[in-house]
Amino acid sequence: MDLKERLSELKKDALAEITNVDDLKKINDIRVKLLGKKGPITEVLRGMRDVPADQRPRIGSFANTVRDELTRALAARKEKLEIIKTAKKLEKEKIDVTLPGVAVKVGQPHIIEQVIAQIEKLFLGMGYQIVDGPEIEEDHYNFEMMNLPKDHPARDMQDTFYITDQILMRTQTSPVQARTMEKHDFTKGPLKMISPGKVYRRDTDDATHSHQFHQVEGLVIDKHVTMADLKGTLQTLARTIFGEKREIRLRPSYFPFTEPSVEVDVSCFKCDGQGCAVCKQTGWIEVLGAGMVHPNVLKMAGIDADVYGGFAFGLGPDRFAMLKYGVDDIREFYLNDVRFLQQFSQKG
Ligand code: DAH
Repeated sequence: MDLKERLSELKKDALAEITNVDDLKKINDIRVKLLGKKGPITEVLRGMRDVPADQRPRIGSFANTVRDELTRALAARKEKLEIIKTAKKLEKEKIDVTLPGVAVKVGQPHIIEQVIAQIEKLFLGMGYQIVDGPEIEEDHYNFEMMNLPKDHPARDMQDTFYITDQILMRTQTSPVQARTMEKHDFTKGPLKMISPGKVYRRDTDDATHSHQFHQVEGLVIDKHVTMADLKGTLQTLARTIFGEKREIRLRPSYFPFTEPSVEVDVSCFKCDGQGCAVCKQTGWIEVLGAGMVHPNVLKMAGIDADVYGGFAFGLGPDRFAMLKYGVDDIREFYLNDVRFLQQFSQKG
């Protein structure tokens, strides 16, 4: 077989190989194999020295044509494979813009959080600061600083989870009063704060008791604060939560950290004070405790009780939510049954 025939044969095989390749990565391997230094064309050209001189130009030019043809065939195949690859990719990423959308389920804050947020908004608007306090608290702040010395009988009002003799799960948000009073700089103005958060009692859970529930503490300390200020503040609170037409009344009560102390009732929002099952036919519903801050509490926090005074209150968002939405079992709030929680959509 002369050189020209060998080249023709080689071209035929090479073109077949190029046409058959379907992997882009292999194209380069084939190019190196066919046209590279160790490739068959180079090898054929090396045999040129044995070709008679008069035939060399003809064979040489034919060899070049073969090389060019193969180079073109490789480029064309590469382009084709690239087009196929892009087409496949586009096919995979195809988006049908006419498909209906998938509705995204939007969550909402827990109902207790919603009640707390409503209270926070009201008090922020009245210039109060919102203060956080520790849930694992010292006996010192939870009780002593709130005028409840060791062995004081009123400690029995709040069954306590003790961690050590001195450390406990706070039974009330009242300790945040003491922590904030200690730090407050009265040369900068009065102290007005609320403190929402979780509290813990060693109670057996039932429809009206939970070992963990929520409170919002309130405290105002300034010169010349009166009980009328307390009443006006609580009336605004009652109207914000329970409706514009609500009245409140104060009944004498006892808390160790306030003197005088009051229990606060709101006129029944269900029957407008006529008497119904919700208010047990009295027209009034007890909603929170409050009072004028006891001088002992001020003194222990380093405040001059002859110059400064104020009021405090403590309320339960769980109780507020139960009353407002007619929930008759506090445990519902903590079961996290989505069907229950979804009823309190913020849109409603
Ligand atoms: N700490 C009280 C409790 O848990 C609630 C309370 C009552 C807080 C009267 C107050 C207050 O600040 O003045 O039962």
